[in-house]
Amino acid sequence: MYAFALDSEFAREVRCGLTRTEQKTLPCRYLYDDVGSALFEAITHLPEYGLTRADTRLIQAHAGELVDWLPRNTIVVELGSGNGMKSKPIIERLRRRQIAVYYPIDLSSTALAKCAEELAPLGAVCPLNTSYLEGLREVAERRAEGQNLLALFLGSTIGNFEPEAAIDFLYAIRLTMHPGDALLLGTDLVKPVERLLAAYDDPTLVTAAFNLNMLARINREIGGDFDLRQFEHVIRYDEQAQRIEMHLRSRIYQIVSIRGADLIVDFVPNETICTEACYKFCPEQIRTMARTAGFRLEAQWIDEEWPFAENLLVAV
Ligand SMILES: C[S@@+](CC[C@H](N)C(=O)[O-])C[C@H]1O[C@@H](n2cnc3c(N)ncnc32)[C@H](O)[C@@H]1O
Repeated sequence: MYAFALDSEFAREVRCGLTRTEQKTLPCRYLYDDVGSALFEAITHLPEYGLTRADTRLIQAHAGELVDWLPRNTIVVELGSGNGMKSKPIIERLRRRQIAVYYPIDLSSTALAKCAEELAPLGAVCPLNTSYLEGLREVAERRAEGQNLLALFLGSTIGNFEPEAAIDFLYAIRLTMHPGDALLLGTDLVKPVERLLAAYDDPTLVTAAFNLNMLARINREIGGDFDLRQFEHVIRYDEQAQRIEMHLRSRIYQIVSIRGADLIVDFVPNETICTEACYKFCPEQIRTMARTAGFRLEAQWIDEEWPFAENLLVAV
């Protein structure tokens, strides 16, 4: 059953991340299979996790202003749309003045199906079940003469990239754009450590389940035999790097085999696998990042309840 699994990118990346000599890692995009996407949606409703509500509040409050600013005939593309609920106010405002065309891009086909169902009544929804940049390049190729582009990258997903990779990623987005095209970038801001730790380590253990599901996914899809009860969810904050880290810590010495990745790997007690890093930002950092990647920061809206910035970047 798993004979050809190493052909899959998932198996190769699992093997690569778990054979690292220093910190074992697993890429965070694999957190979002069907179970993971459903758990992430539950996280966005948790009282401790204010990020999604802040992002949503800012978009609701400023969608009109944003759309008024956009040139006529703008198409919208969202990178990692999830269920697309946050973009709804933007599409609603856009359709008051033009046919709304919306391309949600996501690796999760379940999230995309939900997104298409929610937003189809508002305009032409064209889901792309692929990775961020592949999807964006496809949209850029499909765009007609005279069409302008608004890309959305919400939820502070940019914080999952290492700082240099974040700039490279923004620059790669910029390369698909024409001057005057726009990127709405959501960024979670630095805040008191206790608030951050609570947001990623809720007492109902939904985030723990989201994290552990990574191992369950390896078991399901590529023949792993992780005993999930022998790993625990751990959150760390690196204050200097302004980074939350999500880990899975081995409770005991144990040996795990993953047939599809042709791998047998051992864990000493307390050894961790890092499954996600979430960088937090200061408002001024966004301006610098934008400039370095070929954008100018046209507007920045900040939520007062949960420090979070919505940034309108324009390709120069
Ligand atoms: C943190 S969720 C954010 C969802 C939504 N944008 C929000 O702000 O609530 C990240 C989403 O991006 C998707 N995703 C992660 N890595 C991806 C990649 N490399 N290419 C496309 N989608 C990706 C996941 O499936 C998930 O739906």
